Amino acid sequence: DIKGFVFDLDGVITDTSVLHGTAWHQLADYLGVAWSDELANGLKGISRMDSLEMILKAGGKENDYTQAQKEELATKKNTNYVAEVDKMTPANILPGMKAFLDDLRAKGYLLSLASASKNAPRVLSKLELADYFPKVVDPASLTHGKPDPEIYTKGAELLNLPASQCIGVEDAAAGVQAINAAGEVSLGIGDAKELGAADMVFANTADVTLANIEKALG
Ligand code: G6P
Ligand code: MG
Repeated sequence: DIKGFVFDLDGVITDTSVLHGTAWHQLADYLGVAWSDELANGLKGISRMDSLEMILKAGGKENDYTQAQKEELATKKNTNYVAEVDKMTPANILPGMKAFLDDLRAKGYLLSLASASKNAPRVLSKLELADYFPKVVDPASLTHGKPDPEIYTKGAELLNLPASQCIGVEDAAAGVQAINAAGEVSLGIGDAKELGAADMVFANTADVTLANIEKALG
């Protein structure tokens, strides 16, 4: 029986995946690296420094910068991103997600957050959702990022639940891989072609309801 939900944040609870994408796109332009939908999708769920490495690699520039310069580039992106986050309000919660979280809480499901973002607490507070997630995996504590299962394993551990009693909720292919490797049930939100590895895929956040999940679980 499912007793807990381990949530990704960006692109699942709120539309920050677009803000991350825009900030990375700006940095890619600055670096002279061609931007593409493929590159943008590949960055979803990937940590800040790993994302920068992927962009540099896409442009064949991974050896053109020192570690200190890379840190500066990542900070530049983050400064732009945080400026956008600070404009956010609860209106930036994706359709249906507030109702879904309320329903989960009312029915006694345990919730934790498994976001790779160091800005996750700031985003939750802007959305006025911090109370829903007393348990947040600290991405600074991770040895490996998604698609490694570590973050989802820790998300279940924070709830004191076995992985098999948790549903992991994701918009990124790397995140679905991480959930599956952790042994949790994977729920993907987005393009079924991209998230084909998930146990269930919903096209939109508004479709993510307990009734639809129960139907999908059979
Ligand atoms: C999430 C997002 C990624 C982002 C990562 C790190 O996983 O999906 O796009 O790069 O978090 O976010 P941060 O806020 O720490 O730079
Ligand atoms: Mg995401």
